[in-house]
Amino acid sequence: MYFPKHVEIIEVGPRDGLQNEETFVPTESKKVLIEKLALAGFNRIETASFVHPKVVPQMADAAEIATFCRELGMKFIALTPNVKALQRAIDAGVPQIAVFVGASETFNEKNVNRTIEQSLAECTEVFQLAKKHHLFIRGYVSMCFSCPYEGEVLYEQVKRVVSHFVAHGADEISIGDTNGQANPKLVYERFSQLKKDFPHTQFVGHFHDTNGFAYVNILAAIQAGIEKFDSSIAGLGGCPFSPGATGNAATEKVVQLLEEMNVETNIKQDALKEAAHFANTIIKN
Ligand code: HMG
Ligand code: MG
Repeated sequence: MYFPKHVEIIEVGPRDGLQNEETFVPTESKKVLIEKLALAGFNRIETASFVHPKVVPQMADAAEIATFCRELGMKFIALTPNVKALQRAIDAGVPQIAVFVGASETFNEKNVNRTIEQSLAECTEVFQLAKKHHLFIRGYVSMCFSCPYEGEVLYEQVKRVVSHFVAHGADEISIGDTNGQANPKLVYERFSQLKKDFPHTQFVGHFHDTNGFAYVNILAAIQAGIEKFDSSIAGLGGCPFSPGATGNAATEKVVQLLEEMNVETNIKQDALKEAAHFANTIIKN
């Protein structure tokens, strides 16, 4: 088995973790959580989403959260699915943005009310404006292994979206098992093929843990040469348009797993424990 010296863990809990919570988590509680996570030593944290506040009310305070993160002096990522979102993010001083497009047509339409083709065209505009502002661009591809509406997702469907992101200059591409149905064999094969087809692209693994396979999927992706993973504190969250899916792999477990195998993450486990405990208290309010 292959064990890299270092793996980057990108904490997505304040965004992916909280976006799915029915009861609004007070902005002050989100700030405390972000501060605790920042203390744990992450290089980057995904903290906000400039989506329509009526569609995802939990992320309505994105601008205030972004201002807070900027004042903390941390590197953070915010979701910007369209130009309107990007303009809001630029006004709030966001340094790293993320667009998201589904590999499956039905999911994409339910998630952002656009066909994949329309979303890709919108991404082209978002990339152009983001580059003018020298922002780091992350492209998410969702439902890369299967889709709750369409079933099996083929490699070619994933490749279509990845190709567009690569052609327009994405700085990294996060490959989402949005509904948490992937298995290690599929993960290994899909990431190996992606690395072969796009040898200069930085890929990230983003595994939801619906079936409890997120951790073995991370190990399988590492074998295919992936060294960046998204995870969510306390395993919170999910996507409101991915029915039945649970949260991401829990950050504290991913870090423990990697560190016990001498794969460095540079994340402080005590601080993570504290953040995970706090995260569980704020979602119960
Ligand atoms: P739409 O209704 O099609 O938007 O929503 P529109 O362009 O037709 O505009 C309608 C109105 O919304 C207009 O206002 C726009 O200005 C306004 P009006 O003129 O009627 O007054 N509007 C906005 N307002 C605020 N912020 C915006 C914005 N855009 C338009 N950004 C839209 C399209 C994409 C906005 C909507 O469908 C949406 O917000 N979807 C969000 C879906 C979402 O957040 N999903 C979860 C995140 S993805 C995920 O979790 C997967 C991931 O974790 C990876 C994985 O697991 O695979 C990333
Ligand atoms: Mg997700």
